[in-house]
This record gives sequence, structure tokens and C-alpha cells, in this order.
Amino acid sequence: MDNRHLRFKRRCSAVAKFTDFWCSTYVGFLSFLGIDVQAANENARINIELTRSPSPSPQSSFPDLLFRIFCKPGSTDSVITTPPTYGMYAVCACVNDVTTIKVPLTPDFDLRVDDMLDAVTPTTKLMFVCSPGNPTSKLIPLADVERLASSPKYNGIIIVDEAYIDFSSPESSAVTLLSKYDNIVVLQTLSKAFGLAGARCGFAVSKNEEIIQLMNNVKAPYNLSSLASERAIIALNNTDVLAKNLEMIMSERERVKNELIKIPFVVRVCVSHSNFLLFELTDKAQEVYKYMADNGVVCRYKGSEMHCKGCLRVTVGTPNENNQFLEGLRVGFKAMGGKV
Ligand SMILES: Cc1ncc(COP(=O)(O)O)c(C=O)c1O
Repeated sequence: MDNRHLRFKRRCSAVAKFTDFWCSTYVGFLSFLGIDVQAANENARINIELTRSPSPSPQSSFPDLLFRIFCKPGSTDSVITTPPTYGMYAVCACVNDVTTIKVPLTPDFDLRVDDMLDAVTPTTKLMFVCSPGNPTSKLIPLADVERLASSPKYNGIIIVDEAYIDFSSPESSAVTLLSKYDNIVVLQTLSKAFGLAGARCGFAVSKNEEIIQLMNNVKAPYNLSSLASERAIIALNNTDVLAKNLEMIMSERERVKNELIKIPFVVRVCVSHSNFLLFELTDKAQEVYKYMADNGVVCRYKGSEMHCKGCLRVTVGTPNENNQFLEGLRVGFKAMGGKV
């Protein structure tokens, strides 16, 4: 065990001493939530129930919690992110005064694993892997996550953000790796496939009990309201509703994708493993996005992100919403004088 691990252990027990009360409270909360940890993975333990305050404050998100636990503000500590990716990692790094080392994805949105490992410094504490990615929508192969987790070049933690994993197959989740690697933390949420964004409910899973203990110790007490817990339990006990929603979204994802491909001013539609589609316009993407928003059809402009020039991102909705989006896109492009 090297110095870093010893320091980590000391810090862990120091924090734990003061927070036994909160820990037992939250362990109780987990059983209350009725999450069947064994079902997810024999050795994995769902340890922290939900993050995220009722507001979208980055302070209460998991990434922020992990920064506060593992990184020292204003020091040489760093984290690795892979743009284009979820913006909150960089926001949390900034708020916590921690350096972000950016190792861009390939233009096809794959990880550059060797480059990530080469970018590691002795004080790199966290690596964020978003799978399926936001805004890329692409799954990261588990073999890539394993290469990071098993490399002797890196002894920090790999955070696999699986906010959109329910829209992919269960075997593509890094939860399946947890019994083998104690340096992986998987984050999931009820905000997407479960449609419970307002409940502010998600969870972190890891084999590493020390990490989870620290997360439980450092997070704010009672950060999950009883109302949100109740709603989460209902959702988790009614996965047939989830299955039905997923079926609808996945078939609509295919339909919208095929419709987009047919549109002459759409240059590319990226592969989607999530509930949204990233696609590129010939031109005027930002103007079209704005026009659509002004006319009640909201998608997102992603053209300023790496490898996403001219791209918009649309969340797949009900058939009716999707038709409105497709119509709004055609109208918007024409109104903005785009070239067909
Ligand atoms: C990749 C990714 N992770 C996490 C989140 C946050 O989800 P939550 O609603 O649970 O805060 C989002 C939300 O957009 C996301 O895109």
C-alpha cells in the first residue's frame, strides 16, 4: 500500500469517526429504498442513495462530492476528462480549484485510452468516463474501461457516468466490472429512463467500501427527501412501466433517426445508445436552434463542442413530440435561409 492509499485510509477513518450517526442513517435509508444490490452484482454494493439537491446546484452532485473527497483545492491534483463530454465535470473542477486534463475523444467519439494513460500524472485523482456519452450518445466499450482500471500507470479512481445506460443493453454497464475492480465507481440516475428528473435521485455503485463510506460521510445529511424516496421506490418496484417507456423511446429513436437521415440538410446522424440524437446540419445550426426554441421546439445547440461542428442534440420524446420536432426543424431551416 503506497503513501497515497495510507493517507486515503487515514482520512477515511477520521471522517468516519465523526459521522457514524449519518452512516447508519443512510444504510437504513438504502434498505428503505429497497434496492437489491445483490441483483446488480454479487460483490457490488449500492452505497449511497441519492445525490443532488432539489436545485441543480453542482455542489450536491456526485462529481462534486468526488472532487471534495479526493482532490485538494489549489494543489497539483488533477482529473482527466474526455471532451466532448458532460459539462459538469469541468464546472466541478473549476469550483473545487482542481486542474482538468482534457484528452479529447476521437472524431468518432471513442476514448483514446493510451493517450489518457499517458496524460496521467502522479497527482491525477479521478478520470471521468461518460457512457453513453453526453453529447456523443455513444457507449464506451467495457474493454476500454478495463484497460484504464487495470493499468499500472494510473492508481486513481475511474468514474463511469451511466446516466443514460438504461437506453442500452444491461450487459454494457460497467456495473458488470465491479467485482473485478475496486477503483471503479459507477454513477446512475433515475432522471432519464425513469423520467424522475424532478426527484433528484441517483446512486453510486462500487465494490470499494471505503470510497462509498467516504461518499456517505461527506455528502450532506438527509439529502434525499422522503417524498423523493417514496417516488423512487414506486418507480423501482414498477419496472414494467420503465420497460414500456424504454420500448417506446427506442422505437421512436430509430424512427426519428431514419427521418433525419432522409432530410437533405442533415449531414450526419450519430449512432445513439441513449435517449437523444446528435446530428449535423449543412449550415445555420445555431440560428435554426434559436428559431426552433423561439417557436416552442427545444433541442440543444452543440456546435461549440469538440467534433460537434454544426450539431444539434434532440431528446427523443413521444411520437407526437417527435413529429413536432421534425416539422420544426424543416420550418426553422427554411426560415433561416439554410442551403438545401
Ligand atoms: C452524463 C450526465 N450525467 C449526469 C447527469 C445529471 O443527472 P441528474 O438529473 O441525476 O442530476 C446528466 C444530466 O443531464 C448527464 O447528462
